[in-house]
Amino acid sequence: MKDFEIFKSRRERFLSKLGGKAAIIPAASLVTHHSDCEYPFRQNSDFWYLTGFDEPDAVAIFLPFRPRGEQYVLFVQPSDSAMEVWTGFRWGEKRVVEQFGVDIAHSLDQLPQLLAHYLAGADGIAFRIGKDSSLDTLVFKTWSLQLDKAQRGESCPLSLVPPCSILHNMRLYKDDYEVQRIREATRISAEAHELVRDIARPGMNERQLQGVIEEYFLQQGARGPAYGSIVAGGDNACVLHYTSNRSILRDGELVLIDAGCSLYDYYNGDITRTFPINGKFSGEQKALYEIVLASQLKAIAAVIPGQDAEAVHFAALQVLVEGLVELGLLVGNVESIINEGAYRHIYMHKTGHWLGLDVHDVGAYRLGEYPVELTPGMVLTVEPGLYISDRLEVPKGQPEIHPRWKGIGIRIEDDILVTEKNPEILSKDALKSVDSMQNS
Ligand code: GLY
Ligand code: MN
Ligand code: MN
Repeated sequence: MKDFEIFKSRRERFLSKLGGKAAIIPAASLVTHHSDCEYPFRQNSDFWYLTGFDEPDAVAIFLPFRPRGEQYVLFVQPSDSAMEVWTGFRWGEKRVVEQFGVDIAHSLDQLPQLLAHYLAGADGIAFRIGKDSSLDTLVFKTWSLQLDKAQRGESCPLSLVPPCSILHNMRLYKDDYEVQRIREATRISAEAHELVRDIARPGMNERQLQGVIEEYFLQQGARGPAYGSIVAGGDNACVLHYTSNRSILRDGELVLIDAGCSLYDYYNGDITRTFPINGKFSGEQKALYEIVLASQLKAIAAVIPGQDAEAVHFAALQVLVEGLVELGLLVGNVESIINEGAYRHIYMHKTGHWLGLDVHDVGAYRLGEYPVELTPGMVLTVEPGLYISDRLEVPKGQPEIHPRWKGIGIRIEDDILVTEKNPEILSKDALKSVDSMQNS
């Protein structure tokens, strides 16, 4: 299917699920970095998913209660050759109609005048408040004026609901096209991990490795890193979201690299590997690495239809805690340690998350008291780890940790597709066995 058709079929599904509601889905805006410079543009994933339109400052409106040919309205930045000299090409309200399958397009500055017109006939509004105060104000004001009219007998939307329950549920289940794009993102990400392990040496700066990885992402045509790449030597790896990446990698340390690319259509990879910078695990490093690897393999094996993300987490946790008890880093009965959370000074995060257009992708993990079942087409990360440092207090009843274990942070993260049968490891090209992490 061509891109055009993919976005069209998503819009059709979305429209059919909206019932009688109008949906208002805004694009992202540019965000100031400093002075009059901006961060690179990043489209709002919900907006992208439905439109495939990659400009800032646009608003899409979906109107399932109107006749075909009037159901998808897009407000965009107008063509403006003076502005385009500075900020580049804009599709403008004329060209966007044929290129993006829009039914009706307007310039964004028309939105305040036209919103009431388009909302008339809706029985509710699907709109996510709290993201853009000027759009919130416009939607509230327009709706309030319509509610005033409703008191005089006219019909108007009576409810305001977030669109997430529809849209994020759609995004949770990836179709073949999306899987193919995530496959491409994970291929590039995995190759970058292989490349960087080859050249990493003691004495290098974390930032040098970040440079190698991100250069590969760009070379391969990706947009760039999907999130702040983490290149963390030694104890830095115990900081889960370490991104300063400017320490020297010292002989004898492990280096943890959590990096993945984002493609031009925003699909992402998210991979972590941990290896000894000098090419040889110490006894302590190897013992902990083997536990994390065994835990990850056990958790991946649980990624099957009918299971859920919590079962995957508990599969990983069980192996981690058993391993730590065997090493004497935790004491007591495995089940009680898990129930009491007495492992959390060493393993303090969940074992994974959905992956898609957002790295921590949207979609519920639980619906009320019921966990959401894994279903073919879902993609999730599986990323257990162990982090031994002094940052968190040792819980009562657990042993103080001997300094020889300190400053070891290990995580192994893969991107997994749920299939009818066995889980498919999309990031399998990034090696992870003990031997492949060491120099031969
Ligand atoms: N790289 C972010 C994460 O692993 O969740
Ligand atoms: Mn992750
Ligand atoms: Mn990650």
